[in-house]
Amino acid sequence: MEDVGGDRLAVDAGLRARAARVIPGGLYGHQNVASLPRGYPQFMSHGLGSRVWDVDGNEYIDLMCSYGPVLLGHRHPRVDEAVARQAALADCQNGPSPRMVELAEAMTDSVDHADWAIFSKNGTDATTQCVTIARAATAKRKILVATGAYHGAAPWCTPGPSGVLPEDRAHLIQYRYNDLASVEAAASAAGDDLAGIVVSPIRHDIGVDLELPDPVFATGLRALCDRTGAVLILDDVRCGLRLHHGSSWEPIGVAPDLSAWSKAIANGYALGAVLGRASLADAVRSIYTTGSFWFAAVSMAASLATLQVLDEEDTVGRTVKIGTMLREGLAEQASARGLEVSLSGPVQMPFLSFAGDDTFALANVFAQRSILGGVYLHPRHNWFVSGAMDEDDLARVLDVTESAFDEVAASS
Ligand SMILES: Cc1ncc(COP(=O)(O)O)c(C=O)c1O
Repeated sequence: MEDVGGDRLAVDAGLRARAARVIPGGLYGHQNVASLPRGYPQFMSHGLGSRVWDVDGNEYIDLMCSYGPVLLGHRHPRVDEAVARQAALADCQNGPSPRMVELAEAMTDSVDHADWAIFSKNGTDATTQCVTIARAATAKRKILVATGAYHGAAPWCTPGPSGVLPEDRAHLIQYRYNDLASVEAAASAAGDDLAGIVVSPIRHDIGVDLELPDPVFATGLRALCDRTGAVLILDDVRCGLRLHHGSSWEPIGVAPDLSAWSKAIANGYALGAVLGRASLADAVRSIYTTGSFWFAAVSMAASLATLQVLDEEDTVGRTVKIGTMLREGLAEQASARGLEVSLSGPVQMPFLSFAGDDTFALANVFAQRSILGGVYLHPRHNWFVSGAMDEDDLARVLDVTESAFDEVAASS
């Protein structure tokens, strides 16, 4: 039997045992590897470029990018430099540094629909602020959300029911992604109490194939909001800057009223942002929104550097190129073994699923073989291609996925 844990993850095992005593469940949230096949390390040591290392020193090509925040690659030198420069001055002070104004200028310059920006720390901060601003602006209560969509871990949106009151969700009405008729029905149910519609740029629900937006759906949402006065909120937390240097719906010509950002905007440093159009600035002024660390300068310096590198290195173009080669390679390998797979989503945020694999048994075999071979990917969540991944990394990934598909074929 291959060593999927044992000596290979000995240091990790020690940390897990200690964690189990002082951290409920050993770990909370999406980074708990208890739901992944055996062989995944729980604790990581460091990263560089396209690679990450666990606490036992095992090296992996990183196809999860910290679940989205790392876009340019780990410890990108330009971002590191900006961070060190700012950290030598100050991070958390009695007031923000000039970086805040510079960043608001940079983001409103690069995102078409944005006239102003506010900053926070996480995606949940940003999506929750969007909902609050929409309600403040309209003095209405109902918010439309897509069934199964993830917008964060606050009571209004967390997927887990424990500790959540029906009242926390009392004014949410669900629609189906890419189904305009279901949005119209939800809007009718809201009557004259509709404050806003939250939508993600693509459908990226956990465990199901990703769906690109139907332009008819996206333009239909815009038209509905124009007709009713509801606020169109684009949750760009996961896709933002990966698909386009601007709002992710700019390429299909649909401008939201508000957009929520986090994850990749500071290449791994903690930062959230809401961008919006001028007519909503008064609503922002009217709400009380703040946080002890929301004005800290280091992550804003990281974000400014990230925005510059994104253009200079054409990160979107590079990840599309490598992502396309990855998709083609995976499709070829699966088909050579007679395995029916679906490869969905934008190529730089790919998702792989096996036909009929409702329990993820095959996806788990694939993921386990990959992690043991030194490729960090996920069986149920979309992957992320970083700008640091090059053709050598890709060749190494495809080497490993070749044997992962062999094992799936043998087990199916
Ligand atoms: C689309 C989307 N919105 C919001 C969030 C919440 O972001 P955070 O985990 O930073 O609070 C996430 C996180 O995965 C996300 O993918």
